Amino acid sequence: MNTSNSKGLFLTFEGIDGSGKSTQARMLAETLRAAGHDVVLTREPGGSEGAEQIRRLVLEGDPDRWSAATELLLFTAARRDHLERTIEPALAAGKVVICDRFADSSRMYQGLSRGNLRAEVDQLHALMIGREPDLTLLIDMDPETGLARAKGRQGTEERFEDFGLELQQTMRAGFLALAAEFGDRIRVIDGARDMDLVAADVLAHTQAALT
Ligand code: ADP
Ligand code: TYD
Repeated sequence: MNTSNSKGLFLTFEGIDGSGKSTQARMLAETLRAAGHDVVLTREPGGSEGAEQIRRLVLEGDPDRWSAATELLLFTAARRDHLERTIEPALAAGKVVICDRFADSSRMYQGLSRGNLRAEVDQLHALMIGREPDLTLLIDMDPETGLARAKGRQGTEERFEDFGLELQQTMRAGFLALAAEFGDRIRVIDGARDMDLVAADVLAHTQAALT
């Protein structure tokens, strides 16, 4: 865990689609900025110019456009660009980086639900990324609620939207198993509550990591 402001803090949000990650990331960024922190709010896939271009390739179009293995390569390429151009410079400048999804999403989506590629995910991660967040907040909730929330949104990023309930249940269990696997950095937060209550837990864990 980070102990010095000069080294920055790298914090990620994870969870199933519609669990409230983006909402919580935004609320935390506002709260920390109001308290005087220098915050970079970013997301994956994306967060740098090249990675945003890859985001469009991977999230738009026919669901069969890419295989799980090709997706993994694209997500890893996007992550490497994001790391080089956005995350590492911000951390080196002592900033708090809040990122909506990171490598745990590859472990879950390409590693578990869309492909059975966890070994490949881990190998590529070790080879090309090589770092974990200081703190990961897993917004956990029952998939029916998450699915209803996610379906309420309109947009062009539809390749991954039609997962269905069964797959979302697999994902929830997978994320909770990941939290046990990486118990040193992943904290589980009950997301099926009023967003201000969720935000209070998010802030408490973040403050503990900042001190
Ligand atoms: P994610 O980034 O995990 O997909 P979002 O933050 O985009 O989730 O939230 C999905 C939808 O649910 C949005 O319409 C958002 O306004 C709503 N939402 C987020 N958090 C809550 C909450 N705690 N209670 C009710 N609705 C919420
Ligand atoms: P996101 O925009 O965060 O979706 P949502 O707001 O619905 O949670 O992410 C887009 C999709 O990309 C999401 O379904 C998860 C998927 N994804 C992967 O499959 N692998 C990855 O490594 C990442 C970062 C995201």
